[in-house]
Amino acid sequence: MLNKTKLAAVELGGSEHDAFLQDVTAGLSATRKTLDPKYFYDDRGSRLFQQITELPEYYITRTETQMMQDSASDIGSALAKVSTVIEFGSGSGERTDLLLQSLPAAERYVPIDVSDELLASTAATVGARHPHIQVHALNADFTAPMTLPVETGYAPLGYFPGSTIGNFLPTAATRFLVNARKTLGANADLLVGVDLVKPVKLLEDAYNDSRGVTAAFNLNILARINSELNGNFDLSLFAHQAFYSAELSRIEMHLVSLAQQEVVIDGTYSFTFRVGETIHTENSHKYTIERFKHMATQAGWRPARCWVDEDRLFSLHLLRNTA
Ligand code: TRP
Repeated sequence: MLNKTKLAAVELGGSEHDAFLQDVTAGLSATRKTLDPKYFYDDRGSRLFQQITELPEYYITRTETQMMQDSASDIGSALAKVSTVIEFGSGSGERTDLLLQSLPAAERYVPIDVSDELLASTAATVGARHPHIQVHALNADFTAPMTLPVETGYAPLGYFPGSTIGNFLPTAATRFLVNARKTLGANADLLVGVDLVKPVKLLEDAYNDSRGVTAAFNLNILARINSELNGNFDLSLFAHQAFYSAELSRIEMHLVSLAQQEVVIDGTYSFTFRVGETIHTENSHKYTIERFKHMATQAGWRPARCWVDEDRLFSLHLLRNTA
């Protein structure tokens, strides 16, 4: 059944364009202006993000990949019975390769993402490298509970790498963990990549790279509004800003207005910006091992294993469903 909000959207035409316009105008009308980070990822944004993961300052992807390699046999023996892997937000699907290689009994892979193109290329990549694994792609918003389209076997494994969980507020992260537990069911395991609290300089450098790729990625959301929603943002009058808030244990990403200015979207909606006023675009929460284990426990999971690299940059948590 449609709820009221959905009905309103249907009357408006229900298109992605309308949802984008509605989210942007609502976010920019707030006292503290925000834009939903999901709008970073058009084709150009996805390419820029891929470049971020290869930057020297951005330690996350490199460290997590190395850990998956170093711990492959450890992971394989902890998860010897797993036949189905369900990945939340599968993206390009490249990192899944290492996991599937580590699992002796893997038969099925269920990538979940909201982009049909990414799902198709992931299915093709994984299918080519692992011909014995069946791929069942699922286009869904993985933050909500869902019914999996396949028989998952006795002990399914959920996979949530990249510290994407850090991009949720702690309340939403807990809710995600609860929903994932319900989706995966009894006897399930969940392998989660979680970025760790560390010296501020290392954190801030990772989100302020010297080549300006992260800045271009952040500003791309304004370029998208210009081209898709007929906006007139002057990109030279906004600057990338990323800083660590020790109080909230998170990197915050903003776009700072460098002038007093007015921006018009779709010829209709106008927004004024003061000098120094910001649009908050993303958060990346950092956890201690203990804090993450506590959150997982609150969500009904039992922390079973935890791997940390020797520089203590990143953690991989294996959680078991105790319910
Ligand atoms: N989850 C990763 C992180 O927080 C990747 C990521 C998401 C990211 N949004 C980002 C990285 C924006 C840089 C900028 O680091």
